[in-house]
Amino acid sequence: MASKTTDQTLFPHIPTVQVPPHPVWPPLSDTERENLKDRIKQMLKEQNGVLVAHYYTDALLQDLADETGGCVADSLEMARFGSEHDADTLVVAGVRFMGETAKILNNEKRVVMPDPAATCSLDEGCPPDIFSSFCDQYPDHTVVVYANTSAEVKARSDWVVTSGIALPIINHLAEKGEKIIWAPDKHLGRYVQKLTGAEMIFWPGSCVVHEEFRSVALERLRRLHPQAAVLVHPESREEVIDQADVVGSTTALIEAVATMPNKEFIVATDAGIFNRMRQLAPGKKLLEAPTVGEGATCHSCANCPWMEMNSLQNLAEVLEKGTNEIKVSPELAAKAQIPIKRMLDFAKAMNDK
Ligand code: 13P
Ligand code: SF4
Repeated sequence: MASKTTDQTLFPHIPTVQVPPHPVWPPLSDTERENLKDRIKQMLKEQNGVLVAHYYTDALLQDLADETGGCVADSLEMARFGSEHDADTLVVAGVRFMGETAKILNNEKRVVMPDPAATCSLDEGCPPDIFSSFCDQYPDHTVVVYANTSAEVKARSDWVVTSGIALPIINHLAEKGEKIIWAPDKHLGRYVQKLTGAEMIFWPGSCVVHEEFRSVALERLRRLHPQAAVLVHPESREEVIDQADVVGSTTALIEAVATMPNKEFIVATDAGIFNRMRQLAPGKKLLEAPTVGEGATCHSCANCPWMEMNSLQNLAEVLEKGTNEIKVSPELAAKAQIPIKRMLDFAKAMNDK
């Protein structure tokens, strides 16, 4: 995957995001895999740890989280689960902002990640100092940031949102007449603005994975599969979102596969999600939406290279060696947790209605 440059005309100082190559994990024999899983299970017990995994991580990690009483979820539910669980150690398989969010909400707990270098193009493309100066230019705006950001950026915000709750929160703010700075994902921001009519200024960030989906190739694939429902994550481009039957968070897309009557689905999000979709709807046909690379069969494009940095091997190593602990200073955590808790409280109030 090539490196990604943010909009240089609006924000000249934003550094180019370096996208790492896809990691290659040595294959495991059945026995090696089972031994590794047993060791991890044992260590989780000994350390009173719980595994919290994102839907994009390797299927083996997702299944292990399920088997050990952990959770496999979208980023909103990962945050909620971690903050309510009484484990001493949260093992977060995902990308760095997910581990940091867990630490911010549970500063007294040990939070470890298989690889803390697993970051995200949205987080990388929103440097806290530049972002803070940008916000300073609009003192009358409410600052809303996507969860895919650093602890420092969250601390500069009024609200944190995930894709699962962005719409109702922006709606709520728009109804109060608030003007909004939205960062960092411009595609999700524009999608939310279109539906809510909110007055919003956008930071020019994007997800290198979702930006790869292509609208013309998608139109072609839809013609070949006219009965298929099109499911799109809102980090995708507008022309791709416009073709969707369902636009939503990873959880919403999984629910769509499980509940819609269609037998076929075209899915525009990271291919890691297919694991859960297949488990919940084994008889349904799932097609990867075409990307800029080799089309629907392209490996590199619909697989987040940072999510792929998580494996059984480095998960076992981290528990064994006690390394890769995520640290956020208590002062920073105290600031960053205000907008995150605001989101979690909003979600709870919505669910309680
Ligand atoms: P979800 O909150 O929908 O799981 O999205 C997280 C993410 O990183 C999508 O690319
Ligand atoms: Fe970030 Fe995109 Fe990877 Fe999600 S898929 S973690 S938004 S780079």
